[in-house]
Amino acid sequence: MSLTESFTGSLAGSRILIGISGGIAAYKTAELVRRLTERQAQVRVVMTDSAKAFITPLTLQAVSGAPVSDTLLDPAAEAGMGHIELAKWAQLIVVAPASANTLARLASGLADDLLSTLCLASPAQLAVAPAMNQQMYAHPATQDNLAVLAQRNTLVWGPGQGAQACGDIGSGRMLEPMELVGLIEDYFTPHAQPFAGIKLMLTAGPTREALDPVRFISNHSSGKMGFSLAAAAAHLGAEVTLVSGPVTLATPAGVTRLEVESAAQMHATVMAHIAEQQIFIACAAVADYAPKTVAKQKIKKTADRDNMVIELVKNPDIVADVAALPNKPFTVGFAAETHDLAQYARDKLTRKGLDMIAANHIGLADHGFNSDTNALSVFWSNGQTELGLANKSALARQLLTLITEHYNDRS
Ligand code: PMT
Repeated sequence: MSLTESFTGSLAGSRILIGISGGIAAYKTAELVRRLTERQAQVRVVMTDSAKAFITPLTLQAVSGAPVSDTLLDPAAEAGMGHIELAKWAQLIVVAPASANTLARLASGLADDLLSTLCLASPAQLAVAPAMNQQMYAHPATQDNLAVLAQRNTLVWGPGQGAQACGDIGSGRMLEPMELVGLIEDYFTPHAQPFAGIKLMLTAGPTREALDPVRFISNHSSGKMGFSLAAAAAHLGAEVTLVSGPVTLATPAGVTRLEVESAAQMHATVMAHIAEQQIFIACAAVADYAPKTVAKQKIKKTADRDNMVIELVKNPDIVADVAALPNKPFTVGFAAETHDLAQYARDKLTRKGLDMIAANHIGLADHGFNSDTNALSVFWSNGQTELGLANKSALARQLLTLITEHYNDRS
């Protein structure tokens, strides 16, 4: 099957939280809100104290048709839509204008006013439209803050260039309201669904190999990389089955989750469903070996025994068995390496018969096990590419784009 794209789009019913921080461009945000409500978006506005020096809450209330929130833990506001409710309600948060001060506070994760608290408390996508003097924008502190936010998957919209209110000329103007409307519409347009009609199975998390009823051998996999891939693949239209070892993560929307404990269970579960799959991604950190026997009762510590020898036997290699099937799906493995990454990854690519392998440097900080970020070196039979350090969600999308290209080449 070839991967296809489908596009539709509308703001009707979308739930957008507009955050206004202090800056002369705040007056333009009233126009932005008006244009969004015209397009039938539901808009709620949150203002910082300094924003109110530039535009009144009453103006924003008039154009949004909803009360404007500006105070954290205000009893009257909390009796209406409380701040946590507002954080859950929003599908997209747009901070426009985003002053240098607000960007710094967002990058630092502060929660000392309503807007910054909402940004921390909400699972919604955050977008910022920077607006400030060109010198402040160019300052390394502001650039660092923007880089931190972008690395956390915040969308940075603008700034534009040109004459500024202070008389300077340069970068730092907030994008015009209609430019922001275009970006918001684009965000809500269901994007290309390159995996529509594709069945994709993933493994994620660790396995546990029991020693006795209370002990097991396992590893530090949190499941974050595999769950990010599952969420991104579902978002791109795939019918996703996620075979997960024991982790504490919530199942991503639209994903079917099958829970397992041991490598043997993961192997059996994958094999039971693999025939229907077009793509298989093995992201789980599967134990290579398991104890040969599992004690029925808790193994006791005894006074006469200082050493204990546990005999281990090799587990089935799940990804290699999938890749050896006569009608194998497009098969992608991972390689967790502490050294000689390219050499070991290429060896696994060939030895396990994979179409692609994504290798991560598990010895580096912010990479691999249990971190929110990762970087991948991806190899296939006649090529390779580097996906630089990014949060696991962003990296998942990049890897899936790469898989799309190679899957299409194969079809
Ligand atoms: O879960 P996180 O905390 O987010 O961490 C992510 C991760 C570091 C676990 C992930 O990015 C990763 O590298 N997963 C693969 C870990 C691993 O087991 O690598 P490996 O090099 O030992 O195995 C190579 C490949 O064979 C992997 O695709 C693995 O899933 C697969 N394998 C290994 C053994 C086995 N018995 N069966 C398998 O299918």
